[in-house]
Amino acid sequence: MRTIKLLVLTISLLFASTVFAQKFEELALTPPMGWNSWNTFACNVSEDMIKEMADAIVESGMRDAGYEYVVIDDCWQIGRDSLGFIIVDPERFPSGMKALADYVHSKDLKFGIYSCAGIKTCAGRPGSRGHEYQDAYTYAQWGVDYLKYDWCFTEDQNAKASYRLMSEKLREAGHPIVFSLCEWGTYKPWEWAKEIGHLWRTTGDIYACFDCVEDHGTWKSWGTMQILDMQDGLREYAGPGHWNDPDMLEVGVGSLTDNENRAHFSMWAMLAAPLIAGNDLRNMTEEVRKVLTNADVISVNQDALGIQALKYKADNGLETWFKPLENGKWAVCFLNRNTEPVKLNFDWAANIVNDEFAKRIFDSNKTTYTMKNVWTGKKEGSTKKTLSTEIPGRDVLMLILNED
Ligand code: GLA
Repeated sequence: MRTIKLLVLTISLLFASTVFAQKFEELALTPPMGWNSWNTFACNVSEDMIKEMADAIVESGMRDAGYEYVVIDDCWQIGRDSLGFIIVDPERFPSGMKALADYVHSKDLKFGIYSCAGIKTCAGRPGSRGHEYQDAYTYAQWGVDYLKYDWCFTEDQNAKASYRLMSEKLREAGHPIVFSLCEWGTYKPWEWAKEIGHLWRTTGDIYACFDCVEDHGTWKSWGTMQILDMQDGLREYAGPGHWNDPDMLEVGVGSLTDNENRAHFSMWAMLAAPLIAGNDLRNMTEEVRKVLTNADVISVNQDALGIQALKYKADNGLETWFKPLENGKWAVCFLNRNTEPVKLNFDWAANIVNDEFAKRIFDSNKTTYTMKNVWTGKKEGSTKKTLSTEIPGRDVLMLILNED
């Protein structure tokens, strides 16, 4: 049986190497949306939990809101057999990955998995180094639609070469797959990964706090505001099919408050970031569910132009961001990073935004816009009048502007 498997693998490898190798195009034309196990469960993954999460994505309305990929992060794998095939933890995944992928697919969702370019994963499980085609082939057999590919234990490996290698092997294995690069921005993947993958992490790991740095001794993880600041200068690298990834959402994780959740989610939407939830969907509060499924905020994130927002102003912890949208629309987000409320007086006419990258100019002296507050659902009048309001601490005022 194993010999036959190896024979099939060898034949398909020979055949596949004649295929022109590049990433699968036409995938992730808008930022990928889904759920990943890491932020809440770390290594505590199992087939029961993943199935329950797939059920919860459907029951909570998240699938209908656009969440699509159910991704198992690290720790599903425990070794390799004598032929080098990856071994799935039989205690935690007794039915095997194919059965689990089938279950996820039966819910009209897509299935994702995790591996690493190095010899081991970050949690010390077997990595894909030296087994790239074998793993890609295995994922294709299982029907895996999304691969997150990490960067631990890579020693002197070249990042671009390592990621290109896996991208080619995925392509050769033949099953369309979103390829998510996770080398933390170390070698500036935004400069070279557009042809290789569909999204790339721009930073180290996110931490479930609004504004803090968590020191782990040899490495640090970052609060939402720290990660936000690290996106400076990257907007021109993102677009349909290739996204900057400021890491997965911490909405509903840890001690983030309702307004912090809202601000975090709004900013990830503005950044055209992948929206990969990381909370326990089986028992989230209604407030968290409402944040994650807000259709207007998601529409800003999923806008077909795929343009990341421009940070227009930053003044004493109050930031103003503009995101050009389709059909002449704009999303505008005022972010109050302070713990105290701030007064906002924004005279639209006095703020002409020339977005050279997007080749769009916002000038309310020439075009009047009507405004919708995406969090209250209310109309807020038009840009003819100065916007005067107060923004609570660590919260946002996020608007969609339509040409009148
Ligand atoms: C790295 C990644 C995380 C997660 C863990 C798993 O730290 O950046 O997102 O995948 O590895 O071990």
